[in-house]
Amino acid sequence: MPDPDHLDRRGAVGVITLDNPPVNALSLSLRVALQDAFEAGLEDPEIEAFVIHSAGRMFSAGADIREFDSGAAGESPTLGELIAMIEASPKPVVAAVHGAAFGGGFELPLGCHARVSVPGTRVGLPEVTLGIVPGAGGTQRLPRLIGVPAALDAIVSGKPMKAEKGYELGLIDEMASSLDDLVDVAVRLAEKLAAEDGPPPKVRDRDDRLAEARENPGLFDDFRASIARRARGFEAPYACIECIEAAVEKPFDEGLAFERETFTRCRNSLQSKAQRHVFFAEREARRVRGVEKATPKASISQAAVLGCGTMGGGIAMCFANAGIPVRVTETEQGALDRGMDKIRGNYASTVSKGRLSEADAEARLALIEPTLDFDSIADADIVIEAVFEDMALKKEIFTRLDAICRPDAIMATNTSSLDVDEIAAVTSRPEQVVGLHFFSPANVMRLLEIVRGEKTSPEVLASVMAMSGRIGKVGIVVGVCDAFAANRMLYPYAQQAGFLIEEGAFPEQVDRVIYEFGFPMGPFGLGDLAGLDVGWRVRQHREPTRPKDLRYSPIADRLYEMGRYGQKTNRGWFRYEEGSRTPIPDLEVTELIVRTSEELGIERREISDEEILQRCMYPLINMGARVLEEGISERSSDLDLVWLYGYGFPRYRGGPMFYADSVGVDHVYETMKRFHEVHTDWLEPAPLLERLAREGGTFGDWSAS
Ligand code: 3HC
Ligand code: NAI
Repeated sequence: MPDPDHLDRRGAVGVITLDNPPVNALSLSLRVALQDAFEAGLEDPEIEAFVIHSAGRMFSAGADIREFDSGAAGESPTLGELIAMIEASPKPVVAAVHGAAFGGGFELPLGCHARVSVPGTRVGLPEVTLGIVPGAGGTQRLPRLIGVPAALDAIVSGKPMKAEKGYELGLIDEMASSLDDLVDVAVRLAEKLAAEDGPPPKVRDRDDRLAEARENPGLFDDFRASIARRARGFEAPYACIECIEAAVEKPFDEGLAFERETFTRCRNSLQSKAQRHVFFAEREARRVRGVEKATPKASISQAAVLGCGTMGGGIAMCFANAGIPVRVTETEQGALDRGMDKIRGNYASTVSKGRLSEADAEARLALIEPTLDFDSIADADIVIEAVFEDMALKKEIFTRLDAICRPDAIMATNTSSLDVDEIAAVTSRPEQVVGLHFFSPANVMRLLEIVRGEKTSPEVLASVMAMSGRIGKVGIVVGVCDAFAANRMLYPYAQQAGFLIEEGAFPEQVDRVIYEFGFPMGPFGLGDLAGLDVGWRVRQHREPTRPKDLRYSPIADRLYEMGRYGQKTNRGWFRYEEGSRTPIPDLEVTELIVRTSEELGIERREISDEEILQRCMYPLINMGARVLEEGISERSSDLDLVWLYGYGFPRYRGGPMFYADSVGVDHVYETMKRFHEVHTDWLEPAPLLERLAREGGTFGDWSAS
């Protein structure tokens, strides 16, 4: 912490160091220390200017998010008060920014009289991702410095920008060539500003860039229209736009007051609580029972994938995209060629959409080596098996892998339903075996379920956790059980959707309700996208274990028998025009549904949107409770992430278990009990749900111990 006794002097420049590991969050203690150091410098006649810089790997990650709930964020000096004091200082203040400066950690430099940085630094206002607006002047000062269009892009997306780009835009005044020079360059600039006549320049006084926006009155509505799709359901992006609008229309102090009010409103909203929950959930998920920070991790510089089908091809792309060479094997040339053609087609399509350069696509492709030589994978650091879902075949493959792989190689299976322990047991080193359950399309979907076998070693877990980040995935550790966590929770959701249409709803109504809740699509649209033939095959596979005395909806099987496989045949639960992905209700399906209800002796009734939502959501939450109490998942926030990244659960609702806590676990339990009384099958409340409801507990506070 800086304090008045430790305000360093470089000639006439007072150098203040922020030091609050690990990320220099601007918590109350740091704010007090900064204020003390600054006031001491103001009073010192020998100090003519200041430099503020930080110890550690970054300038600052911004306001201390944990203080939002404790109330300490509002205690004096608030960040806003500190920044106002710095901006009003008669002695110029230069921020020397390295590593990252985010949120309040960037608003602080914006209140300084100049900013110096170093290549590679990232600066930005990610508050929107936490469901809030920047609350310490960011929405008022950034547009004054870089203009409204660039500020809208930066604040509403929340994406950081490189300091080099900030320099081009006039946000950063000078760039030091390296971190070693940063403070020297800042000190020289501070001396220069101190030598100038008059008070130091303040961002709040700038108006030139705002004047440009006043000449373009349609700017804000156009911007709103441009984000309508990606921001659907979110409140914060629109609140950010309003604040920037206020910067253009109101005097600085009024704009600042508007931003403050908006910040407080957003911070208290359920959406922001949910998004903050997700922020901490992502960090919490990295903590895995039995895996320590010091647990050694294997370095992964060569990967191998067995099978170049739907999943194998996508998995190979994940490695290539991360710059890791990968060999892909098949048993015959035709399959290998087809797989590689698909991969090439995927890259070509990304290039044609302008999201990847031709050269980068070529470079990635060059990292994928197709081969029929199984033995050539012997030197891989990790092997991921993605062959047909057949236990005998998987056992045969793992026996062969055991014979040829290096002793320290990680041997992973992408099975979606088979017992990882049974597969591991055919090897002499089950501790090296792990499940890596990718989601389709594997090169796109962010979720990676890391299936911890009974004997999987901590080193293997630590290594695949680290690897999942490298290949752009959110790795969530789960235990071995039928279908693991994600799909196991998906079944009751899809199943109830099926029952609802037998009882009186139609696919378009169910999908609308789920879409309005915030999912990208409903269960029937999802079925059409995945392919009704795929679902049918899974059901055939599970048929021998299906409890025959429990309710089963036959409609999906009938659609399959009619050749309605979904989008791939332009007909599934819905109808699709050639080349279009827009679902259109189809009379043939409507008639089939009504006929089936009759055959089953079900009298169709009006079903409310509320019932649809509850019948789809609560059983999946109920299954989440079972997954937790069986120890398949360590904590409920992991299940939230599984649903966010695996199935597009709306982030602003925090995930299904957070959603249950927010509507009340007792309410979910009582509703499930009522459903169970009426519909009996499948809907029995889980013991953990019942216990939490009885004790007034929440999933968030529950822990396995
Ligand atoms: N407040 C409180 N804790 C924070 C924090 C913050 N702003 N930022 C990070 N942390 C914590 C993390 O929870 C983590 O704690 P843990 O070790 O107990 O899990 C620890 O610091 C290290 O963080 P990461 O593991 O995330 O470290 P990385 O190096 O991977 O990432 C980072 C660093 C990119 C800065 C990332 O931490 C980050 O994105 N932080 C949040 C940035 C942000 O959203 N800032 C805006 C805050 S709101 C604000 O400023 C309001 C203002 O406008 C008034
Ligand atoms: P797929 O049928 O598209 O591909 C499997 C590929 O493996 C085929 O190309 C086949 O030729 C090849 N293969 C078979 N035996 C082989 C061998 N001995 N050596 C090398 N290659 C061999 O199947 P898909 O969908 O890619 O599934 C693969 C695995 O991934 C399965 O275990 C499946 O359960 C799992 N999975 C599938 C998901 C999906 O949505 N399709 C999602 C998550 C997991």
